[in-house]
Amino acid sequence: MPNAIICPMDSKKVIVGLSNGIGFAKKISAHSKIKLEKYSFRNFPDGEVYVKFDSDLNGKEVVLVQSLSLRPNDFLIELIFAARTAKAMGAKKVTAVTPYLAYMRQDKVFNFGESFSAKEMASLLCVAVDELFTFEPHLHRLQSLSAIFSIKATSLSASEKIANFVSKKFSSKDTIIVGPDLESSKWAKKIADMIGFESSIFEKTRFSDRHVKVRVAKEVEWKNKNVVIIDDIISTGKTVVESVKELKKRKQRAIYCICVHALLVEGALEKILNAGAKKVISCNTVPSKTNRIDLSDELVKFF
Ligand code: R5P
Repeated sequence: MPNAIICPMDSKKVIVGLSNGIGFAKKISAHSKIKLEKYSFRNFPDGEVYVKFDSDLNGKEVVLVQSLSLRPNDFLIELIFAARTAKAMGAKKVTAVTPYLAYMRQDKVFNFGESFSAKEMASLLCVAVDELFTFEPHLHRLQSLSAIFSIKATSLSASEKIANFVSKKFSSKDTIIVGPDLESSKWAKKIADMIGFESSIFEKTRFSDRHVKVRVAKEVEWKNKNVVIIDDIISTGKTVVESVKELKKRKQRAIYCICVHALLVEGALEKILNAGAKKVISCNTVPSKTNRIDLSDELVKFF
């Protein structure tokens, strides 16, 4: 049962945690002192979703929090149903906070006949919500969320929080930050530069969903150093496992992995640890036991 926090400052605004966003919603509510409203959700025996708000939303600004991780289709449908229901109940504005935004890696039509999934996902959300906030969406070929969203969509960065974490736990004298592929450079190199750490960005070739090869494009003095691999998403863990295997050939002290979105599917965490990494640490955009870096307070200035 969510804790209700009464906010005398802005009683017109409420936060609702949907089934994959309740933890993050509670944190935003605690930071912002905006009331967390009750909400009920269940699946019918055939898998259909049932959503129900337990309070009057008429005239309210409603913030719905839902991470689109692991069962993205279920959670997306639930978010769309909840948003449209809130509107039907008279909500003045519906804002979605999707700490992890799914489908962003299919950010173009790679092969004839494929769906441009990022655009399709965005167009579904645009008919349901008025505004959207997310963290580190996988913007690689797309320059910004405005390329696919017709509503206001804000992309928030995790770099500062990760940089603070790394600089508190490691020393620039004996730690190297690694990005496992060129795409990760905008997190790994950026974070390394923010806190004055040395970095090395690897090159990755992807052959299929579960088959990648990683090459150490820039050698540095690895011996007796800690290595912190930083990437946006760990899904199957193959990218990190291949990076760890390459690093293990180079006599460093210990290898740590940090990601924003810990999807960690198909036993990825165990595979990464078995490959020789000491620890996997993530931000809390996806419910995961590896979460150590809280991003929820980044939203407070917007609400
Ligand atoms: C790819 O472009 C992303 O930045 C990640 O490197 C990728 O999603 C990781 O996937 P996996 O863990 O399945 O190798």
